[in-house]
Amino acid sequence: MNYPKQVKIVEVGPRDGLQNEKQLIALQDKLDLISGLGEAGLKVIESGSFVSPKWVPQMADSADVFAKLERKNGVTYTALTPNLKGFELAMASKVDEVAVFGAASESFSQKNINCSINESLQRFEPLLANAVEQNIRVRGYLSCVLGCPFEGEISAEKVAEVAKKLLEMGCYEISLGDTIGTGTPFKTQRMLEAVLQHVPIAKVAVHFHDTYGQALANILVALQLGVSVIDSAVSGLGGCPYAKGASGNVATEDVVYMLNGMGIETGVDLDKLSAAGRKIMSALDRTSLSKVANALASR
Ligand code: HMG
Ligand code: MG
Repeated sequence: MNYPKQVKIVEVGPRDGLQNEKQLIALQDKLDLISGLGEAGLKVIESGSFVSPKWVPQMADSADVFAKLERKNGVTYTALTPNLKGFELAMASKVDEVAVFGAASESFSQKNINCSINESLQRFEPLLANAVEQNIRVRGYLSCVLGCPFEGEISAEKVAEVAKKLLEMGCYEISLGDTIGTGTPFKTQRMLEAVLQHVPIAKVAVHFHDTYGQALANILVALQLGVSVIDSAVSGLGGCPYAKGASGNVATEDVVYMLNGMGIETGVDLDKLSAAGRKIMSALDRTSLSKVANALASR
């Protein structure tokens, strides 16, 4: 098997994780989470979103998060930016790297960012042009790659077509999102094989929500195909406010435990990661969705 020796984990807990929380989260709790994740050895931490505060109130304090977070050497602090306005706000907050987010489903694109897939790509163009000028790397998310909450099945060819466009527009990495977590391993394999016709393996990331408990199995398939970038959220936090029923991302603790067992390096300290997870779950007054974190806590 063609397993990578090392995997880059993109920790999305402070953004994808917290964006869906109903209760107001104190700024200090967000800062503690980001700092704990950095201490645990995570090198890429998605720390906020510069989106409309009316659409996603939980991310409205992202500028404060970036103003106050203690930047650790070697850690990249990233944010979502849906348009040029978001990009300019992110630059004013000294974000290290930004991400645009599109979809492989027309209905999801409308519900999530209020425009068609093609319109979204047009909105990304000036953002990407500015990013090139300012030497800022742009990641491209693609949602609904294994199913859409409104349209159901999404073809692998459609996913590959939009992924190719994001790459051609200048995104350095394409993160393929199973937004509602309905994907299964063979389907994941077919989707990835279609994307890999157009996007080099080193530029592919996978982003699984674990709604149906399939995320680790799907990640294993991705690893077998050589994917070496995995998105996850500490404690399995998260969900998309515009994808009803979508539960959190695969838990970072579970991914790290699996990769440790497979001898694949991540640079993440599982105990420190679990401690960061316990702290935010205690602030949210909820139990962790990570099986590994719960198992470690009950030892
Ligand atoms: P719109 O209403 O079509 O935009 O929203 P607009 O350009 O007409 O502007 C409307 C208002 O929003 C204006 O303010 C703008 O200034 C403001 P008003 O004049 O009414 O006071 N505005 C902004 N404010 C702050 N930051 C901005 C910004 N842009 C406009 N960047 C828009 C379009 C994209 C802004 C809106 O639909 C939006 O913010 N959507 C965000 C949705 C979102 O964040 N979803 C969750 C993240 S995606 C996700 O979770 C999936 C992912 O994890 C992968 C996966 O799992 O699949 C990435
Ligand atoms: Mg997501």
